[in-house]
Amino acid sequence: DKAGHKHFMAKEIAEQPQVISEAIGHYFGAGQSEIRFPSDQVDFTGVSRMVLVACGTAFYACLTAKYWIEKLAGIPVEVDVASEFRYREPPVGPGTLALFVSQSGETADTLAALRYCKGKADRIVSVVNVTESSIARESDVALPILAGTEIGVASTKAFSCQLLVLFVTAMEAARQRGLLSADRQADLVSAMRGLPARINLALDAEPVIEAVAQELAEARDVLFLGRGQMYPLALEGALKLKEISYIHAEAYASGELKHGPIALIDQNVPVVVLAPRDALFEKSISNMQEVMARAGKVLLVSDRAGLGVAGEGLWRSIEMPGVEDLLAPILYAIPAQLLAYHTAVAKGTDVDQPRNLAKSVTVE
Ligand code: M6R
Repeated sequence: DKAGHKHFMAKEIAEQPQVISEAIGHYFGAGQSEIRFPSDQVDFTGVSRMVLVACGTAFYACLTAKYWIEKLAGIPVEVDVASEFRYREPPVGPGTLALFVSQSGETADTLAALRYCKGKADRIVSVVNVTESSIARESDVALPILAGTEIGVASTKAFSCQLLVLFVTAMEAARQRGLLSADRQADLVSAMRGLPARINLALDAEPVIEAVAQELAEARDVLFLGRGQMYPLALEGALKLKEISYIHAEAYASGELKHGPIALIDQNVPVVVLAPRDALFEKSISNMQEVMARAGKVLLVSDRAGLGVAGEGLWRSIEMPGVEDLLAPILYAIPAQLLAYHTAVAKGTDVDQPRNLAKSVTVE
């Protein structure tokens, strides 16, 4: 049942305020900032390293979590795609907490990577949507993302809920290690509680995004740029676009531009820059100006403050509401998803069942 939407993907994008708010309700008591986490089963105090392993969109959620865990909890984090991790026989030993992220909980490579870590890592934690899945069953602790059934092959609401649960995990790790003051914790929880309303505001930008998508649909190649925690989101935005619209899209960390990809820039390559006005904003803007100086068409996704100082010459812009810096990847996932969705609709591709793809990849 698409609940009046044209596609399951559209329905699932629109459900995000609701599912994010349910996930927040699960991990925090009403009106409280105490984290409801199985702390007795996951001890972050003796951990010297974390490995985060997943595939596809879930892998990009892990990449985002690396920024959060390292920043808040000071634990070194290694992130790998499951198909690489499982075969390179990486050293996993005492002091390692292994964490696997999977919407379906049945992805063959992720499950194999989990089995590789059994008996080697201190603890095996999974972040799953399907709680009766193999990955959930075979881990010591399974953290539910509570996104509800996701039918569209392109993962949307599962991604934002994975991010939310990974952020809670980073907070809990920081708390256990004495690195999160009660005040900071309360501030972050209140910022999280403000997310559903902000996601609704982001969804209000849909008509603007739909208009941009009509033009994006003409492109042969699209570049996505982001810095810091927005870099994994750039990767996710590019994946979303290529899997459903079949437009070639690539993502780079903004600072990498001049090390190669800038050679691709001309008036035919739209460049999507994901840059809230955070500590790295000035740097992103200078990268963006390098693109514009080469006639590149820049679509800047930022907040009012960012758009206000970004200057002249943008091809298009999409305004997001302001949000706590650390939570921006969750909010900016919405325009990335809508952009891919409307571009695919404009191209007339099969949005919910893109060619060659399956919802759950249970063979390697
Ligand atoms: O079920 P999982 O989260 O383990 O699936 C992982 C990937 O196959 C999945 O995220 C895939 O990349 C999606 N099509 C992305 O939209």
